[in-house]
Amino acid sequence: MSDPYAAVWRAALPYLRARKNDVHVPLSYGYAEELLARHPSADRDVVLLGILLHDVGWAIVDQEAILREGFGPGMMESDVRIAHEKEGARLAREILERLGYPADTVEHVVAIVDGHDTRRHAISPEDELVKDADKLWRFTVTGVCVSSEWFGMTPDVYVEERLVGEVLGQLFTPAAIEIAQRELAATRRLLRLDVLSADIYERIYAAAEPYWATRDNDVHVPEAYALCRTLLRWFPEADEAVVLPAILLHDVGYLEVPEDEQRVGLHDLEVARRHEIAGARIAGEILRGLGYDEERTRRIQEIVDGHDTRPEPLSLEETVVREADRLWRFTENGIRFGTAWRFPSDAETIAFFESKLDEWMLTEPGKRLAREALARSKAALLVAEGVD
Ligand SMILES: [Fe+2]
Ligand SMILES: [Fe+2]
Ligand SMILES: [Fe+2]
Ligand SMILES: [Fe+2]
Repeated sequence: MSDPYAAVWRAALPYLRARKNDVHVPLSYGYAEELLARHPSADRDVVLLGILLHDVGWAIVDQEAILREGFGPGMMESDVRIAHEKEGARLAREILERLGYPADTVEHVVAIVDGHDTRRHAISPEDELVKDADKLWRFTVTGVCVSSEWFGMTPDVYVEERLVGEVLGQLFTPAAIEIAQRELAATRRLLRLDVLSADIYERIYAAAEPYWATRDNDVHVPEAYALCRTLLRWFPEADEAVVLPAILLHDVGYLEVPEDEQRVGLHDLEVARRHEIAGARIAGEILRGLGYDEERTRRIQEIVDGHDTRPEPLSLEETVVREADRLWRFTENGIRFGTAWRFPSDAETIAFFESKLDEWMLTEPGKRLAREALARSKAALLVAEGVD
């Protein structure tokens, strides 16, 4: 049987060579057919012509701009994205009118194409099926391969964060959710995501990293994180799923504190509070973005919002986070940065930190690890400085 839309495919072809649409559109078209089989009352012409033509506008917009502005934060609102919808609607009308499709079919298809990405709601049952088919190809190996490249993510992170965390929840019809889950299972199996997958802390780490750009946090936080893992051995009852994200996220708020105020950070309560409050908000955004457990997310936010200033007593998890944060000060890099921030020499930093050790460290294992770290720092730094 010949393809009833062969003429439309031919007319669309020159416009499908952008942005892998000559892969995306045929695959999505297949899902539109599968969805139609489950929704026999939907208008077949509208759904199939809608999916076939929905992305033709990408061929008209600036190719460079697609990669520059079309992906990443705010992608749905970007100008190029709106432009591809407007151009697509114009081209769809042109093609369908030229091929003699009835006016009401043309109007319905054009209305679906116009705003198909930026309009979150569906205007008709046909629009629901087009929107669902547009997304379903992403759950295939091909979709993961192409889209993870666009987003600069590894396949496993793309699958968990984008597909499971976002796209799955945006599907309209139960049929589409079923298909998505079927494809997801196959993709996970074929790409061996059970083994080729970052653990959740690596994903939180990657999401938090851009926020470590100020105040030596790109050194402080990864090292405090490692210390935190060590400390946890002495506190097996502490909930690691609260402690580890909390230490990774505890200082993300510094990015919102002006550079000149950061220097007084530890000694000025108001500045300290500012990085805690901003940090708790950002931590919540990051964790919810990753689909992290809600109850733990709230506890982590509470720890971040007070990690420097909350008076004791502290919960066990908060104690471990604070110990790791402070323990870092006694390490070689902690001393170096302490000197850079406040003291004229490493010897003076060491003398000051030594005098504060028992006050700052809250637990016996913490005190012991701090003493050991300080001894190592002394050996490394004071020998280098020529002091004994
Ligand atoms: Fe699109
Ligand atoms: Fe699309
Ligand atoms: Fe802090
Ligand atoms: Fe810190």
